[in-house]
Amino acid sequence: MQITVFQTLPHDREFFSRANHEGRHRLVFLEARLDPRSAPLARGSEAVCAFVNDPLDAETLAALQAAGVRLVLLRSAGFNHVDLDAAARLGLVVARVPEYSPHAVAEHAVALLLALNRKIHRAWARVREGNFALDGLLGFDLHGSTVGVVGTGKIGGCFARILLAFGSRVLAFDPEPDALLEQSGVRYVPLAELLAASDVVSLHCPLTPATRHLIDEAALRRMKPGALLINTSRGAVVDTRALIGALKRRSLGGLALDVYEEEDNLFFRDLSAEGFDDDVFARLLTFPNVLITGHQGFFTVQALTAIAETTLANALAFERDGRPLHPVGHA
Ligand code: NAI
Repeated sequence: MQITVFQTLPHDREFFSRANHEGRHRLVFLEARLDPRSAPLARGSEAVCAFVNDPLDAETLAALQAAGVRLVLLRSAGFNHVDLDAAARLGLVVARVPEYSPHAVAEHAVALLLALNRKIHRAWARVREGNFALDGLLGFDLHGSTVGVVGTGKIGGCFARILLAFGSRVLAFDPEPDALLEQSGVRYVPLAELLAASDVVSLHCPLTPATRHLIDEAALRRMKPGALLINTSRGAVVDTRALIGALKRRSLGGLALDVYEEEDNLFFRDLSAEGFDDDVFARLLTFPNVLITGHQGFFTVQALTAIAETTLANALAFERDGRPLHPVGHA
């Protein structure tokens, strides 16, 4: 099958080419973002492969269908950027990668937590300048501390297990508690209780209408003074402006983000020479107790291999009987 891969980043080309080792599929790599204007570039391909921030609205999907596309392969787990009703109306089949490596994201959340708590980002810069003073670098033991996990699915569950191994007391909030985690020592509590009791809060729930701005001004005020907040889920799960308020009044002890509400205009690109216009993001960068990475939680060899292999397996299954392995919505 011919597949046009939109928004190809260097690692996509490498991992997709490797997964296509038997040359079953003809892969056409484009750097263009998938939108109504670029969709006709897919002409000649039965499928397109879309990135997590390609807006797959009705207009883009109609343009793809007009170009002869029948299958939309999402190289992501999330599908909140796809108009599934429009896809169904247009007869387009949508497939996704429901799971790649939950360890990749959970371990990145732990890396952010350790770096933020022990001020590794500040220590690294100081030592390079020959400044070996310790003031301002004080952290706390995770052993014996209370860590709150919001969302204990695949990633949150992994994160909770790692923190249990550190000797932390792990609290969790999830509408669907995991009995195995409970047996391991995780205690499920209401969100308000989790926020009030935790030294660290880590977010691992999906972005849904119910979780949009779950961590807002009121939630931040409920948190323990000096607590750390880690978000590797989706940017809009927290209200960024409220975060800035909490940092300014010094009630939040530290903040680590791998995702940001307006990340589509920033992340995955090198803007170092031209700069950027986002004043809210720029304000976040001024706080010494804020650590941000640009959506790299998934970025491990194992996760990229799984994403490429599952995406091409979806294409192969569709070629065989019209049904991908992991259909989304009405497919
Ligand atoms: P999952 O579907 O296995 O788990 C999500 C959990 O959140 C479920 O247990 C669900 O019951 C729970 N949940 C739903 N609504 C909730 C609410 N209102 N409050 C608390 N919990 C709620 O998903 P998985 O694979 O663990 O991924 C979690 C999130 O991580 C994804 O939705 C995505 O936003 C994010 N993610 C981030 C990546 C990164 O590179 N930073 C990469 C992959 C995923």
